[in-house]
Amino acid sequence: MSDAIRPLIAGNWKMNGLKSSTGEFEAMLGGAGALSGKADLLVCPPATLVAAFAGMARDGMVAVGAQDCHPKPSGAHTGDLAAEMFRDLGATAIIVGHSERRADHGESDALVRQKAEAAWRAGLTAIVCIGETRQQRDSGKTLDICKTQLAGSLPDGATSTNLVVAYEPVWAIGTGLTPTTGDVEEVHRFIRGVLTDRFKEEGDRIRILYGGSVKPSNAAELMGVANVNGALVGGASLKAADFLAIAAGCP
Ligand code: PGA
Repeated sequence: MSDAIRPLIAGNWKMNGLKSSTGEFEAMLGGAGALSGKADLLVCPPATLVAAFAGMARDGMVAVGAQDCHPKPSGAHTGDLAAEMFRDLGATAIIVGHSERRADHGESDALVRQKAEAAWRAGLTAIVCIGETRQQRDSGKTLDICKTQLAGSLPDGATSTNLVVAYEPVWAIGTGLTPTTGDVEEVHRFIRGVLTDRFKEEGDRIRILYGGSVKPSNAAELMGVANVNGALVGGASLKAADFLAIAAGCP
């Protein structure tokens, strides 16, 4: 059943991109039409580019998202941005709980959950990221870590439209390393089980993305794994040709 889920290829530009990057996004828009039978496309540029990209993407062939938000809708939080602000710019999704935010900013599962709820409050899809470190994998704790992060980071009331889960082994992010397809399959099957236990039939339709060193050369193999419903792509999402080639690798 979950194999019938339409894949999502989401680009996470992280802290990369200037006004001049609109050309790359333009190229993505140009190539998206040919991939409409393959996958939904989403690009999450830095906050500074969300308005420009959302304005360019009016035909909806590529959705635009954000990379983080504050839990509150407004207030005295210098430098922070609310989910409502991204909604106002035309964003449709927000990545929350990325391992770089968990590491750089000490974000806890409880905070990630609040941010996911903030995305929902603003009518946006929350892309909640989880994943183990190398040390945790080596000590056999991968599934325990994922279980704890899912329990703490996912709010009640998740549906296939308001939630996407991204499994991103921390050691695979930006390193060129990827787990074996067998390891990806094991973790994604486990996540599916957690989602269906908690969210019943909705849990069977929630997209579970794989993230960590996805590139054109490994996309087809990874996207063919059971319960992998797309990818969260960092480095390779900065180039239109690579991003589009990854989407083309979807089954
Ligand atoms: P990467 O990043 O594709 O550059 O490994 C993935 C991510 O952090 O979302």
